[in-house]
Amino acid sequence: MAERKRTAGFKRHGGYKVPTGGVAAMRRAADELADADIRMMGDRVPRHAAPETLPQPAFQCNDPDTRLHVGDCRDILPRLPDQGQADLVFADPPFNWEVPYEGWSDGMPRDAYERFTFDWLDACVEMLSLKGSLWVNIGDDTAAEVVMHLKRRGLHMMNWCVWHFRFGQNRRSSFILSKAHALYFVRDPLRRIWNPDPILEPSDRANVYRDDRTMVKRRDKGMRVPLDVWYGPYWGRVQGNNKERRSKHHNQLPEPYLERVIRACSRPGGLVVDPFCGSGTAATVARALGRRSISIEQSKAHAKDAWERITKVGMIQKKPKKSRK
Ligand SMILES: C[S@@+](CC[C@H](N)C(=O)[O-])C[C@H]1O[C@@H](n2cnc3c(N)ncnc32)[C@H](O)[C@@H]1O
Repeated sequence: MAERKRTAGFKRHGGYKVPTGGVAAMRRAADELADADIRMMGDRVPRHAAPETLPQPAFQCNDPDTRLHVGDCRDILPRLPDQGQADLVFADPPFNWEVPYEGWSDGMPRDAYERFTFDWLDACVEMLSLKGSLWVNIGDDTAAEVVMHLKRRGLHMMNWCVWHFRFGQNRRSSFILSKAHALYFVRDPLRRIWNPDPILEPSDRANVYRDDRTMVKRRDKGMRVPLDVWYGPYWGRVQGNNKERRSKHHNQLPEPYLERVIRACSRPGGLVVDPFCGSGTAATVARALGRRSISIEQSKAHAKDAWERITKVGMIQKKPKKSRK
């Protein structure tokens, strides 16, 4: 006879959830970590001092209000008049992997890079409203430090998502790199903006296993909130002759990634902040979805190209390729 699952102590309304004890433990750990004396290498480097000057956007337009600043986000973020106003901050920083960004040295000593990371993270936290979310796209070697820093700042981790891409660089010395981390933090898990409806996708139960039980559910028939590992058509690294590619930029995230994050964690008319604009993916998607946005990019040339994309090109419609006969 099949063994019955032990479900006491589990919240299972509408699906498997983290055991209630686990949620309580996470909350307790988050509270305790905020006061813990955690030291990392970047702590021994002095903090960045932002100048007093009030930043002016280099590019700006309305409907919805869209602003792009040229400069170092550590200088600009703390001086913006929009402190505590953002629904969502999405940050995709340089990974310190010696990518030749125009105007930026992407190969700092480790302690300086950690200090840089903590400085911009702190400035991002100050931008968040009480309902706000901070998402960080980051590589393997700094994900742990970002998590620890945000936890010691008292933020709550909602998800540690993984963006999986299958076009990594070939190597034989170890397993091939095929992911970045998409870290989802909030100020307050109970008050956060969270819109599951616009991001639902067909569930495996409906789509793969053809299990009719999913069609008699009261809501979300055949649908589910996406899993925490993200991949699929249009989710690969943006390169080659990909339609949304901006050829002048080295690292561009796919639009579906930003679409998922922006739809789930901001409201129409709400403010989205991107401290590392790059080719402008976050602001392009935010504008297309009716969100206000503030972006910052240290390179004038990248900013100019991003502005053209944000205001003239917009989001690229995705259509499935016709199958070859
Ligand atoms: C990984 S890319 C961002 C890519 C972007 N998410 C996209 O989809 O196009 C990082 C960008 O941050 C810029 N950057 C580096 N350091 C910066 C700083 N301190 N302040 C503002 N921008 C910076 C780089 O020039 C680069 O364009």
